[in-house]
Amino acid sequence: MKIKEAKAVLENSGQEQVIKALAGLGTDARESLIEQIGSIDFAAVARMKRLIEDGDRGQDLSGIEPAPVVKPTDEERDAARVIGERALAEGNVGVILVAGGQGTRLGFDGPKGCFPIGPITNKTLFEVHARKILALERKHGPVPFYVMTSSVNDAPTRSYFENNKYLGLNPDRVMFFEQGMYPVLDSAGHVVMDRADHIFMAPDGHGGVLKALLNTGMITDMEKRGVETLFYFQVDNGLVEIADPVFVGMHIDRSAQMSVKVCAKRDPDEGLGVTVVRDGRTAIVEYTELTDEQKNERGPAGELKLLYGSVAIHVFSRTFLKHEAEAQLPLHRAHKKVPYCNEAGETIKPSEPNAYKFEKFIFDALPDADNVLILEFKREDEFSPVKNAEGDDSPATAKRDMMLKCARWLESAGVEVKKDASGSPINRIEIDPCYAIDAEELAGKLEQGFAVSADTNLSG
Ligand code: UTP
Repeated sequence: MKIKEAKAVLENSGQEQVIKALAGLGTDARESLIEQIGSIDFAAVARMKRLIEDGDRGQDLSGIEPAPVVKPTDEERDAARVIGERALAEGNVGVILVAGGQGTRLGFDGPKGCFPIGPITNKTLFEVHARKILALERKHGPVPFYVMTSSVNDAPTRSYFENNKYLGLNPDRVMFFEQGMYPVLDSAGHVVMDRADHIFMAPDGHGGVLKALLNTGMITDMEKRGVETLFYFQVDNGLVEIADPVFVGMHIDRSAQMSVKVCAKRDPDEGLGVTVVRDGRTAIVEYTELTDEQKNERGPAGELKLLYGSVAIHVFSRTFLKHEAEAQLPLHRAHKKVPYCNEAGETIKPSEPNAYKFEKFIFDALPDADNVLILEFKREDEFSPVKNAEGDDSPATAKRDMMLKCARWLESAGVEVKKDASGSPINRIEIDPCYAIDAEELAGKLEQGFAVSADTNLSG
């Protein structure tokens, strides 16, 4: 991009303050800012400005109804498992991990996937996920693994995998790709500068995965490999059952374009999006958009009417992903404190929110799907995210839930697990996914008389 073009783009977008900044820069700094301007999606900036000017009117949610949830019988699960396992064995299933977030709440120095979570081994979240994929590969066959990063953590994520021999995975089947970045805007709709020659940018949300898959050639890669069905999950959930064959099988069997796993919300105020039908389409509505009345409404048996929440575990058909990559997902805004560079070149750390950050959310693709599967799962078996440093959804609760899951597997195999008064196992337990990927496999491996008498690490 030439300076003339850059100025025209900035003028059209009402960003004259950046033209002023350009005028005060030396040659190298000016070139670098012009290059950055060339990389910014100013059509999206125009949408962001409209959102700021119009205020967040929210959507009309007056007529929403709970979406139907599938609760399969054991026979239906068995039949779906066969279909899912066949797809895995035929090499038609890939895995997408979104790991481009900033992990602000956890406050860990490094990509969240490098956070140690194994209750005994301190395996990192990436390692726990990779071991599950390795276990699937050993059982069924190759499973391509697409890992989304952002410029915030791309380099450390790649070096972590390289320095750790790809955690046992075949590097030819681990593909990293970077998501897009958006500028943040102040209340006047001006982009925020973090240096005299640089516009502050933040990842464009997990919904950015759709465009990123297309723009970085990952969809083409999937086509070349014959991958038709994609399991999608988030980096912070150590309990996730990656490419669960039952879920994958049901998605395929019903010719779904997008599938969603849901669990009952802990309480009306839990921050999960709920699955609803709105204007005849299935959608996920963020809890912040519901009125108190909608959140608390109860059915005849006293259960919450909008009971089922999505925890961002999905299956997509590749063709739907490609279709959605061309679509325009809505933007969601959040008011944040963003340090900025003032006209004197000083960095100011605001004490109050001063800027709007915009993100796309993956679940906004759902209403575009004609065929949708919403499948119930047991929260204790599959969802315990690491979001906060302490309290709910923290490393402590995630480790506890990982150990409780292992304890349940052991108990179902007839092993006694001693527990304290709160129901937590007295000894720490960890089961490597390559030792056993499910309770059944575990039961088949344990020798007669196996007992948990001390910390127990079953490694494969
Ligand atoms: P969260 O919304 O929990 O955000 O992301 P976060 O970045 O992990 O943590 P906070 O909110 O800053 O504390 C849920 C999942 O979506 C991914 C995250 O890496 C995580 O796996 N994500 C989020 C992205 O890949 N890109 C984004 O832009 C945002």
